[in-house]
Amino acid sequence: MLNLTETHKTVKNIKERKAFTVSIADSNHVKEADYFGVVSGNNTPDKFAKSGLSYSKSVNVDAPIINEFPVCLECEFIEYGECGVIGKVVNVTADESVMNGDNVDISKVSAIAFDPYTHGYYKVTERVGNAFKDGFELK
Ligand SMILES: Cc1cc2nc3c(=O)[nH]c(=O)nc-3n(C[C@H](O)[C@H](O)[C@H](O)COP(=O)(O)O)c2cc1C
Repeated sequence: MLNLTETHKTVKNIKERKAFTVSIADSNHVKEADYFGVVSGNNTPDKFAKSGLSYSKSVNVDAPIINEFPVCLECEFIEYGECGVIGKVVNVTADESVMNGDNVDISKVSAIAFDPYTHGYYKVTERVGNAFKDGFELK
């Protein structure tokens, strides 16, 4: 689910193509990721070219994959509702450099997260626990 305002160019594109991708930006591309968020395709048609990044066409859905971002979720569009865009992830692509065997190793991605309170971008790097397991210690 993507909580996106309906008037954004991104939402218009998603509805038209019935597909979208979600790329995970890394700490080497903070400027480019922020650029995508502060400029609209509604009045800057060559937004992608200006970002300096490149893309490949997904073979699974009608949407681009940003080559420089390490992980990408390829999604089919389901509907635009009260919560925003709802889609289904049909494939995940990842750069070899962030793989550990068959899995994406999130500690290698150096993904960035946005803090809406301080408007900061933070690196997500360190594993601090085990899901579906650590909580049982308090049971
Ligand atoms: C850090 C950051 C977070 C944002 N979060 C959202 C969000 O959650 N929902 C939304 O609709 N727009 C959000 N925006 C604003 C859009 O990215 C912005 O309106 C952008 O220009 C839309 O581009 P488009 O019209 O090409 O789709 C965010 C922007 C930034 C920089």
